[in-house]
Amino acid sequence: METGSGIFSVFLLLSPCVCAFNPTQINPLVYDEQLLWVSGVQGEVNTFRIPLITFTPRGSLLAFCEARKLSSNDVGAKFIAVRRSTDKGSTWSPTSFIVDDEYRADGLNLGSVVADEETGSIILIYSICFHLYYCSPPSTMMVESLDDGLSWSHPRNLSVQLGVKAFMGGPGFGIQKRLPPAKGRLVVCGHGTIEGDGVFCILSDDHGQSWYNGAALKSIPYNQPKKALDFNPDECQPVELPDGSIMINVRNQNTYHCRCRIVVRSLDGGLTLPVEELYFDTNLVDPVVAAGALQKDGVLYFSNPSNYQHRVNLTLRWSFTNGKSWENQAVQIWEGPSAYSCITSFNSGSVEDEKYIYAIYEKGHKDYWETISFVKIHLFGGR
Ligand SMILES: *[C@@H]1O[C@H](CO)[C@@H](O)[C@H](O)[C@H]1NC(C)=O
Ligand SMILES: *[C@@H]1O[C@H](CO)[C@@H](O)[C@H](O)[C@H]1NC(C)=O
Repeated sequence: METGSGIFSVFLLLSPCVCAFNPTQINPLVYDEQLLWVSGVQGEVNTFRIPLITFTPRGSLLAFCEARKLSSNDVGAKFIAVRRSTDKGSTWSPTSFIVDDEYRADGLNLGSVVADEETGSIILIYSICFHLYYCSPPSTMMVESLDDGLSWSHPRNLSVQLGVKAFMGGPGFGIQKRLPPAKGRLVVCGHGTIEGDGVFCILSDDHGQSWYNGAALKSIPYNQPKKALDFNPDECQPVELPDGSIMINVRNQNTYHCRCRIVVRSLDGGLTLPVEELYFDTNLVDPVVAAGALQKDGVLYFSNPSNYQHRVNLTLRWSFTNGKSWENQAVQIWEGPSAYSCITSFNSGSVEDEKYIYAIYEKGHKDYWETISFVKIHLFGGR
C-alpha cells in the first residue's frame, strides 16, 4: 500500500536517535541479500552499473542504476532504471526506466540522489555528454519526484544556472544539511572530466529550484593532461558529521601519495574545501573505485572493494571517531569481484530503524558488472 500524504507530517519530527543500542556493540551481519539487476539477460539492456540507493523521507527505499543499452562501457546510450520498496527492502517493484537518452553516442551517466526531508521531494542529478564523445557541450541534468518516487518530472538542464562544465554527481547520494552551518542546504558533490577533474560541489538553498557552484578541489595540474601519480581527486561521497562539517570520501584516481582514499572536509556547508582539511586515509586501501559512506547515529560507515589492486573483497568498515581511526574488525560482504557501492539508512528515531543500514553494490563471480545486489545489514546481529 502507498503511504498517503497524511503520513507526511511524521517525518518533520525526524530527530537524532536517543540510542537504545550502545554503538560500541556494533557487529554487523548481512541479514538479507537480493539481486536487483542482472546484466545480459534483460530485454533492451546489456549491462546494469552504477548503483545508488536512498531512503525517501517517507521511508521507502529507492534503488537506481544506469541501464546501459549496447555494451558495458561508460560511454553509450542508457536508461536510468529505478526499483522501489515500501517494506524496507523485503520486496521491490519491477524496474521502471525514468530517463531514456535514446541513442546518444555518449549518453547519460549517474549521478547523485538527494532526498529533501523538508519538502519530501527526491532529486536525481545526472550528466549527459560527460565524456565529450561525439557530443558537446556536457550538461548537468535533474529529475525530481514529488510523490515518493512513483513518478518523475521531465529532465531540467541545470547547466543553464551552473554554466557549462562537465560535472558528474557522486556516484552516490547528495546530502541535505541537518545541522548548521547552512541547515537545509542541498549539497551534491561529484567530479569533473579527465583534464578538468577534481571534486566539485553544487548547492541549492531553495530545495532544488536554483543551483550554484560551491566548493572545488581541483586536480593538479588542472586542465592539463595527467601523468601517473598526479593529484587527481575523482568520484566521491559526502556525509555530514555530527559537528555540521561535511566530510567527502574521494577516489584517488592516479594513486597520488597512496593506494588509498582521499578525505577532505568542508567547514562552511560546501562552499570551500580547504587543503588544510585534506588527508589520505591509508587504512582505507582502495583499487581506484567509487566507494560508499554513511554517517548514522555518530558512527561513520565505509564500503569499498578493500584490495590494493583489484575490484574484489567488498568490505564494510566503521569508525567511532569520524574516520580518524577504524575498528579492526571489518565485515566482508563479498569476497569476489565487486566495485561501486552506496549505503543508506532510515533515521526515524525508532528502535527498529536504529538497527539497520542498507547497501547496494556491483557484484559478480567472474566480473563485477554481472549483477547489482542489495544487502540489508543488521548492525547488532553478528557474533
Ligand atoms: C544545457 O544548457 C547549456 C547552457 O545553456 C547549453 O549549452 C546546453 O546545450 C544545454 N543542454 C541540453 C541538453 O539542452
Ligand atoms: C579483504 O579486506 C580485508 C579488510 O581490509 C583485508 O584484511 C583482507 O586482506 C582483504 N582480502 C583481500 C583478498 O583483498
